[in-house]
Amino acid sequence: MDKDILYVGVDDNDIELFEGQFVVENGMSYNSYIIMDDKICIMDSVDKNFKDEWINNVKKALNGKKPTYLVVSHMEPDHSANIMALCDEYKDITVVYTQKASQMALQFFNRKPNNELIIKENDTLDLGKHKLQFIAAPMVHWPEVMFTYDSVSKTLFSADAFGKFGALSFDDPEGWACEARRYYFGIVGKYGQQVQTVLKKVSQLEINTICPLHGPILEDDLSYYLNTYDTWSKYESESKGVFIAYASVYGNTEKACLLLKEMIEKTGTHVSIADMTDEDFHESIEDAFRYDRLVLASVTYNGTIFPVMNNFIEALLERNYQNKKIAFIENGSWAPQTAKLMEAKFQNSKNIEVVEPKVKIVGGVNDSVISQLEALSNALKD
Ligand code: FEO
Repeated sequence: MDKDILYVGVDDNDIELFEGQFVVENGMSYNSYIIMDDKICIMDSVDKNFKDEWINNVKKALNGKKPTYLVVSHMEPDHSANIMALCDEYKDITVVYTQKASQMALQFFNRKPNNELIIKENDTLDLGKHKLQFIAAPMVHWPEVMFTYDSVSKTLFSADAFGKFGALSFDDPEGWACEARRYYFGIVGKYGQQVQTVLKKVSQLEINTICPLHGPILEDDLSYYLNTYDTWSKYESESKGVFIAYASVYGNTEKACLLLKEMIEKTGTHVSIADMTDEDFHESIEDAFRYDRLVLASVTYNGTIFPVMNNFIEALLERNYQNKKIAFIENGSWAPQTAKLMEAKFQNSKNIEVVEPKVKIVGGVNDSVISQLEALSNALKD
């Protein structure tokens, strides 16, 4: 990172669920930066629980100097909660944000900062040495979002984009992609088209460093991160393989799915599998987008799809699930019908190919089920 840019964010190691739903076993970071220049510029605030720690970080970095600007990339409270605390500390500071962000400030705080500068796409802010340029990034992932590009240090402040789960103090052995993927498909996945739009804009820029609002600062081989975001936001499959998601009540549907996994793996095809009643729901969303083939297996329950599977399919549809091959397995002792019900859910999804046969289980796994699974494994192999 450029020597004039200082990190003043915080780690949240107490949080269990981010946004009330995403399991974050390894915590979360709320990133904030300061650009030290003739006019000192703070980039975003942090979650409300870290007001004192953040203000202390800011003061320490400023070392007695006064900031001129606070740039607000995103008004979601995990980043905006302490705007007014900073304005109360530095009464002359000017808050720089979009018109929509300004409206939201009033909505959240019932008051406005003393000084605000409303900016729009392509506006610039001259700090002395560093020159900032603003890039609108609506719906990545709120409507008021903007990126900031410092053309001198070639740093892109990318708001939530390129963020990942996990505190910065946690050295993630899985690297960036695993938790960045779960973050992306969980939080931004619905807005692939909008991500594509902003990626096209930033492709015109020379970038050395990406400073997101969550997760590590990205510096090496930025094309890897940009290309991965391109793949995700185009709804292209990142990996070849089959993801089997099942909802089983007494273990028979599970047994069929484990058999199917074994059969497919024998062909050398990669298989990932999740028990939807047990696994992290958002890990499963991530895998459903990651792989090019999906198997959905559900018992019939009250004449319809088992609730957790129904929720899972709805979560995929909400995120514009598309460009996949999908196979269905149903189980029902007297009226199995989840295969057709699950298939019907995808009727308006783009570029979905249903893989036959649909496997019907009427209680336990018998020879008929095994031969159906063999046929399906042949249809799903690489
Ligand atoms: Fe990290 Fe959309 O807030």
